[in-house]
Amino acid sequence: MHDSRFIALVFLLEDLATIYIYISISILVNSYAEKMGWLSSWSYQLILCIQLLLLHSLTHSKLCSHDQASALIHFKQLFTYSYDTGLHQKLKNWKEDTDCCSWDGVTCDMDTGHVTGLDLSYEGLNGTIPSNTTLFLLPYLQVLRLCGNPHVIGTFPEFNSSNPLEVLDVSLTGFSGRLPNSIGNLKSITGLILIGCNFIGSIPASLSNLQSVRILDLRGNRFVGTIPEIFVNLTQLSSLDLSSNQLSGPIPSSLSGLSNLEYFDLSRNSLNGTIPSSISELVKLSRISVSSNYLSGNLEPYMFAKLTNLYYLDLSSNNLSGNLEPYLFAKLTNLLLLDLSSNNFSGNLEPYFFTNLTSLSSLDLSNNSLSSTSTTKVNSSFESPCNLRMLILSHNKIHGKIPKWMGDLGKDSLTSLDLSHNFLTGGIEQLPWKNLDFLDLRAVMACDGAVASFDNRRGHAGVQ
Ligand SMILES: *[C@@H]1O[C@H](CO)[C@@H](O)[C@H](O)[C@H]1NC(C)=O
Ligand SMILES: *[C@@H]1O[C@H](CO)[C@@H](O)[C@H](O)[C@H]1NC(C)=O
Ligand SMILES: *[C@@H]1O[C@H](CO)[C@@H](O)[C@H](O)[C@H]1NC(C)=O
Ligand SMILES: *[C@@H]1O[C@H](CO)[C@@H](O)[C@H](O)[C@H]1NC(C)=O
Ligand SMILES: *[C@@H]1O[C@H](CO)[C@@H](O)[C@H](O)[C@H]1NC(C)=O
Ligand SMILES: *[C@@H]1O[C@H](CO)[C@@H](O)[C@H](O)[C@H]1NC(C)=O
Ligand SMILES: *[C@@H]1O[C@H](CO)[C@@H](O)[C@H](O)[C@H]1NC(C)=O
Ligand SMILES: *[C@@H]1O[C@H](CO)[C@@H](O)[C@H](O)[C@H]1NC(C)=O
Ligand SMILES: *[C@@H]1O[C@H](CO)[C@@H](O)[C@H](O)[C@H]1NC(C)=O
Ligand SMILES: *[C@@H]1O[C@H](CO)[C@@H](O)[C@H](O)[C@H]1NC(C)=O
Repeated sequence: MHDSRFIALVFLLEDLATIYIYISISILVNSYAEKMGWLSSWSYQLILCIQLLLLHSLTHSKLCSHDQASALIHFKQLFTYSYDTGLHQKLKNWKEDTDCCSWDGVTCDMDTGHVTGLDLSYEGLNGTIPSNTTLFLLPYLQVLRLCGNPHVIGTFPEFNSSNPLEVLDVSLTGFSGRLPNSIGNLKSITGLILIGCNFIGSIPASLSNLQSVRILDLRGNRFVGTIPEIFVNLTQLSSLDLSSNQLSGPIPSSLSGLSNLEYFDLSRNSLNGTIPSSISELVKLSRISVSSNYLSGNLEPYMFAKLTNLYYLDLSSNNLSGNLEPYLFAKLTNLLLLDLSSNNFSGNLEPYFFTNLTSLSSLDLSNNSLSSTSTTKVNSSFESPCNLRMLILSHNKIHGKIPKWMGDLGKDSLTSLDLSHNFLTGGIEQLPWKNLDFLDLRAVMACDGAVASFDNRRGHAGVQ
């Protein structure tokens, strides 16, 4: 007990104002305790503990070291201000003679007083952050968020291996230049989020060292070159987004290391080659998009068999080919969206393609070379998707009558149907879909041979 008294005393000496508060509260608490007869030794200790905790939080309300405060003040001075615009409100109370841990946007470790977090997202900052900025020198900074400041210009510094950064988010800023190889030194990083900046150059292979990374989002920059084989050891990665860059070459086969990957987006690049079969092992995947690349080859029948968590699959605008095998997607009972449009798929679209796709809401198979035979019959075990709202089969090679089984697709749910630019000749006397408000059957031949020109929107469906 004497020891704890001594520690308390040391704390006390830190801040005279706190002593006053502490003593007042102590007297209050002690006298109340005495009144209640709580002076057995355990209750006394309890009271002492509470007092110490209180004291601790009081003394720690002013902690920020001079070095860190001045690093932040230097940082603040990089920008031009016009407070009347309602922007940079957070920086208003950054004043030299105050405790930086109380500044808006600044987070401190309450035990040590070190600045561990800085969030100045969407503050309308305007200025240039040099790569030797004091900001990156804050030695304990774990979280840095500057996103949504488009008038901030900057480049990354060299990072050394004692850098404790865990989250680095400079999305939607004017950060530019190459990613330094030393970015691989950020051993603690869990989120590297660089959406919509002006980064150029290649993706450094050193990213393979970021073994704690969970979110890697580099979308919307100007990265070029191939995607390096960085994924072997990134077992924590759950979200990978490299979309909207200028990446080329194949999708790395080291993908199979990503055992925790849930979100995978490589769309809008110039990737070629095939979709690696290793993707079939990434059983946690819930969303895949590789649309708008130059991928080719067939979809292996087992490719999606284990990906039962998938709800979003977009392979559109590539050069994928082969038959759409009947049971290719039959394990994807959670699939909501399937987009295979603008590829080179061929063969017969069979009703068993829809097996088990009970959640499917949106299906786009347009602009392929699919056909369908109107004579295909289904038996009673055929369960058509009952939640289908959008079905696009335009620009294919479907000849003859609309197959009868197709009328069962989303009979009560379908709101949008596009069968245009095929070679249909009618076939369903009465449209089975009850809730359509968009119907495009252009180039469907009516029974008497006249071209039906119905591009009907908002409930004006009808044969002319
Ligand atoms: C940013 O600040 C500069 C002056 O430093 C000024 O010329 C420019 O107009 C500002 N830009 C915006 C968008 O406020
Ligand atoms: C950063 O570098 C510039 C020159 O390159 C120098 O003038 C400035 O003092 C440096 N700033 C810091 C914080 O080291
Ligand atoms: C890493 O960088 C920080 C800040 O620049 C510096 O204080 C520290 O000494 C460096 N550590 C090593 C191992 O180079
Ligand atoms: C993956 O990690 C292991 C063990 O830490 C290491 O030996 C190997 O070189 C790493 N592989 C890559 C590609 O970084
Ligand atoms: C991918 O593109 C590169 C560069 O254009 C080319 O050299 C390579 O042969 C292509 N690979 C495939 C599989 O098409
Ligand atoms: C698509 O792939 C086929 C081979 O499957 C190839 O012959 C064709 O040139 C490719 N088309 C484009 C536009 O890349
Ligand atoms: C349909 O789903 C069930 C339940 O997930 C599964 O057991 C069955 O194998 C699937 N059917 C096909 C043809 O894959
Ligand atoms: C069909 O796909 C090709 C190649 O992917 C593309 O160039 C074309 O614009 C697409 N047409 C339509 C109508 O989507
Ligand atoms: C579709 O694939 C065939 C070969 O399977 C190829 O000859 C043709 O060029 C491809 N079409 C396009 C638009 O790439
Ligand atoms: C319906 O057809 C499927 C596929 O052809 C077949 O596996 C199944 O046994 C048939 N069911 C009945 C009830 O005939």
